[in-house]
Amino acid sequence: MWKAIILIGGPEKGTRFRPLSLDVPKPLFPVAGFPMVQHHIEACCQVPEIKEILLIGFFPLSDELKSFLEYAKKQFTPSIRYLQEYTSLGTAGGLYHFRDQIGAGNPSAFLVFNADVCCNFPLQEILSFHKSKTTDDGITIVATEATQQESMSYGCVVEDAATGEATHYVEKPETFVSSLINCGVYAFSPKVLQYMENVFKEHQSERFDSGDDNADQSFSERISLEKEILNPYAGSGKMFVYKTKEVWGQIKSAASAIHANKLYLSLYHKTNPERLAQNSHKQSPTIIGDVFIHPNAEVHSSAVIGPNVTIDDRVVVGPGVRVSNSILLPGAVLKNHSCVLNAIIGWQSIVGDWSRVEGTAHQPDPNAPFSKIISDGLFNEDGRLCPSITVLGYNVFIAPEIIILNSIVLPNKTIQSSSKNLIIL
Ligand code: GTP
Repeated sequence: MWKAIILIGGPEKGTRFRPLSLDVPKPLFPVAGFPMVQHHIEACCQVPEIKEILLIGFFPLSDELKSFLEYAKKQFTPSIRYLQEYTSLGTAGGLYHFRDQIGAGNPSAFLVFNADVCCNFPLQEILSFHKSKTTDDGITIVATEATQQESMSYGCVVEDAATGEATHYVEKPETFVSSLINCGVYAFSPKVLQYMENVFKEHQSERFDSGDDNADQSFSERISLEKEILNPYAGSGKMFVYKTKEVWGQIKSAASAIHANKLYLSLYHKTNPERLAQNSHKQSPTIIGDVFIHPNAEVHSSAVIGPNVTIDDRVVVGPGVRVSNSILLPGAVLKNHSCVLNAIIGWQSIVGDWSRVEGTAHQPDPNAPFSKIISDGLFNEDGRLCPSITVLGYNVFIAPEIIILNSIVLPNKTIQSSSKNLIIL
């Protein structure tokens, strides 16, 4: 029996995802028509050995989270539960804090995922690899190739090519270490939890030695998976690298959500072809490439949609509209002949007649075949806004005949004039 754990973080996390994370917990942000974490859950459901999925985070149990959990419990076979940390305990603190619940039923191992990664999750292969390589005290880390420059923004793993052992691990190194980067997906054997106990005890004695009586309990319980577990495990003969050449990305910024949307839509050809819209009959819009249209959306037959577009619940798309490489969030309205390219249109936002909302698409460097970074920073080194996608937050109104280019519009704004490269507060 296996378990899966998804690290969903909490409200102070996901700052680069603002303003979109102001209105929904980031792990529930819909990508390719479904909440980010649902893609992880659906992958787990393909592996019969996984009997329980635990979401660990420090989000309060809001209405959105509650209703997602209720839906997920009904929809999926493995048991699904949310374990709430009392404060941010770091990437491994929650695993240690909830060790009894994780260990209940004696799982032979457990998978751990960062909620903000997107990939095709080759879980069955990871499972077999983990079983073949490790003992009851082992870690398998999933890794992929990046460019030398990109690698320094990630956790870097050095591998012994002959054995597959991870011999060295550094989180976001200052100088180049390895172009193999941590994908944020792992398999852990049960004894790794015991190792976490040693880290916890070290923290406790540091707290005691410091004589700081005000340091709260969370000081000892806050554990970094990357720095305090993966780093010492590397080179100990107990950590192995599962290399994947499959699509992979991280969802840190709004721009990377557009990229993840494209990845998941392309994966639907294999996993859920029925989710992709087709050019079926005269009454339906023209579909180009991969497009998801929610059954409750209304799209006019003269609209041209795609490629890489998600049209969510209750969205209305009027006559003559053009949309490509974009996400239209629930309740958004695109009025007649408007045009939306490389953009995210927020919940209940309205784009007026003949208006244009446009961002700049991520252009992968053709000389960097492993390029994975999707402009996660908002600003250049010289302090100027990076050309990126355009984002309209919740309930934004764009008047007719306006052009919004490479801009970010915060929630509840009415925009009456055109703008370029601006953050509209
Ligand atoms: P940044 O580049 O600083 O964002 O680092 P990162 O990409 O390595 O991400 P980070 O370490 O912040 O988070 C990795 C994953 O762990 C994400 O899915 C987070 O939501 C999750 N996470 C981060 N901190 C916590 C925490 O305190 N508790 C829980 N349960 N999850 C966390």
